[in-house]
Amino acid sequence: MLLKDKVIVVTGGAGLLGRRFVKAVVDNGGIGIIADINPETGKRCEDELSAELNAKGKVAFFPLDITSKESIQTLIKDVKQKFGKIDGLVNNAYPRNKNYGRSFEDVTYEDFCENLSLHTGGYFLMMQQLGLYFKEQGSGSIINMSSIYGVIPPRFEVYEGVKFTMPVEYAAIKSAIVHLTRYAAKYFKKSGGQGKCHKSRGHIR
Ligand SMILES: NC(=O)c1ccc[n+]([C@@H]2O[C@H](COP(=O)([O-])OP(=O)(O)OC[C@H]3O[C@@H](n4cnc5c(N)ncnc54)[C@H](O)[C@@H]3O)[C@@H](O)[C@H]2O)c1
Repeated sequence: MLLKDKVIVVTGGAGLLGRRFVKAVVDNGGIGIIADINPETGKRCEDELSAELNAKGKVAFFPLDITSKESIQTLIKDVKQKFGKIDGLVNNAYPRNKNYGRSFEDVTYEDFCENLSLHTGGYFLMMQQLGLYFKEQGSGSIINMSSIYGVIPPRFEVYEGVKFTMPVEYAAIKSAIVHLTRYAAKYFKKSGGQGKCHKSRGHIR
């Protein structure tokens, strides 16, 4: 019961990994907030996890677009109204535009910039807005999802014979998130945080 009664917001909570994180929160005694841009999968995920875990009231979907300050502020207000507080954020959403995933030669300047804005920019906005909220509250933790590909170079041989690759945007996005996490950990140390950043998990305290 490591997370007993802790309210944890998981962005992209209706996705492949997000859903597992929400389940882990509830398995450990907490309340899992599925914060996702897709209301259909978000609501379905709430219904399915509530039934699977026999945890009605411990899992809740809230709509969120991590690239909109207004949407983030609405989420904070609505979660606070329903559960009284927010204890943690798992910054996990995976926004990308329709051209995301092309080979290096085919990525346009516009697509490169847009994908970086959506993903790295969205993670920044979540850290900024939740960071302000946690500062006011006096406590809070943030976990940022990077990737092995934010740390090591791609192994292109793994993608031989398949139609997809390891996108260049992903390398730029995920390596930036590792360092943004260090930045935020040091920044919030000034306001009473521990200034700690777990190397592999991107955990700000
Ligand atoms: N799947 C993997 O093997 C893997 C490995 C390493 C890291 N990651 C990272 O884990 C995270 C989750 O990956 P996944 O595979 O579960 O992705 P996914 O595509 O299955 O889920 C992503 C979720 O994010 C939501 N989303 C998209 N844009 C959003 C926005 N603007 N605001 C709020 N929600 C939004 C989608 O609706 C979706 O539910 C990503 O950051 C990814 O880079 C994944």
